[in-house]
Amino acid sequence: PYVIASACIDVNDKSCVEECPVDCIYEGDRKSYINPKECIDCGACEPVCPVEAISQDRRVAEGDEAFVEDNRAFFTEVLPGRDEPLGAPGGARKVGELGADTPLVQAWS
Ligand code: F3S
Ligand code: F3S
Repeated sequence: PYVIASACIDVNDKSCVEECPVDCIYEGDRKSYINPKECIDCGACEPVCPVEAISQDRRVAEGDEAFVEDNRAFFTEVLPGRDEPLGAPGGARKVGELGADTPLVQAWS
């Protein structure tokens, strides 16, 4: 799948959200996250990000390797303020803004 890395943090431009044909980019608080179970690898999101935060998982920028697992963790771990993991809800629009981030992103400075 494609992943969103550190450059998105505190930019969270969301142009990518509009582009995704399967609506698998979910909006956190400081950043957005691609659901690896729902991404069909179409690549439409990559060129529209103004800060080039998006890439295929095997091509993430040096120093951003942890974001491959972190995009996954956003859906498999229980986020602050929730009772259960998001899993694969089948569409970001119906879920809306989550207002939460993974611990990695929360602590990012
Ligand atoms: Fe982030 Fe870029 Fe999308 S800043 S929300 S990955 S357009
Ligand atoms: Fe959507 Fe980008 Fe994957 S547009 S399907 S998140 S490659």
